[in-house]
Amino acid sequence: MYLSVILITALLAANVWLLVKYNHYKHKYKQRGLFGRWPIKGISLEDLDPVFKSNEFGPTQAAEVCFIGRGDINVPGGTSDTEAWVLAVLAKKSTHIFEFGTCTGKTTYLVARNSPANAQITTITLAPDQLSTYEREADDSKKSTDDAVAESAFTRFLYSGTPEEKKIVQLFGDSKHFNEKPFVKKMDLIFVDGSHAYSYVLSDSQKALNMIAPNGIILWHDYRGPQDTEDVFKALNVLAKSKKLVHIKETSLVAYRADG
Ligand SMILES: C[S@@+](CC[C@H](N)C(=O)[O-])C[C@H]1O[C@@H](n2cnc3c(N)ncnc32)[C@H](O)[C@@H]1O
Repeated sequence: MYLSVILITALLAANVWLLVKYNHYKHKYKQRGLFGRWPIKGISLEDLDPVFKSNEFGPTQAAEVCFIGRGDINVPGGTSDTEAWVLAVLAKKSTHIFEFGTCTGKTTYLVARNSPANAQITTITLAPDQLSTYEREADDSKKSTDDAVAESAFTRFLYSGTPEEKKIVQLFGDSKHFNEKPFVKKMDLIFVDGSHAYSYVLSDSQKALNMIAPNGIILWHDYRGPQDTEDVFKALNVLAKSKKLVHIKETSLVAYRADG
């Protein structure tokens, strides 16, 4: 009898201890998305834009594009096929497009190829001989900084030498030094996919928010949770406190539509 009272008391104490520990870690990691849902709400493509509305056959000709797929072939810094399709579809009705981070130029080419004849696509990237201008800050993870530097390897692009090249303005330089003032409220579509380091995501996002036209859409790449692209996740969760950001389900894209 005496022994079972001791046993029950010990079990109860262990349960209380586990509960306290669980609540402690739940609270600690909630912000980092390790428990429960991610802070930015998920929506379907149809909810992002009516052009993605399906009928009984699936997506319609409204969402038809010229496309280079990638399947499971590695493309440095590249988007998935779904993400590339989303960007290409939105480009069909965008005459002013801006991209942070050109890399291979695959997205640049696809949006140029699918945009109206009078469209202009401006894209900025860091050239290999400009790495000394890169400004790492204290909050930037080593991994995102190393990736940004490694991906700054291109000065020729998938669009080079194609008819689409005439629609494209290629800028080389560090995006923190980019002056967005001439483009304020001008852009219909902006893709934020430059350095994934925390300070750069915040800086590029602020410039994108300044440049977006009424009703325009900003898309960010690589919102993948706390363990993968941790700086992007952290920065966009901070931004989501003041801006209405949505996560497009089944992709790593986050979107913001400017008020009309
Ligand atoms: C993930 S890749 C972009 C992929 C491209 N948007 C696509 O869809 O194919 C990142 C790009 O950002 C560029 N980048 C990295 N740090 C940068 C910086 N500080 N300023 C401008 N571009 C930067 C890299 O050179 C690289 O081209």
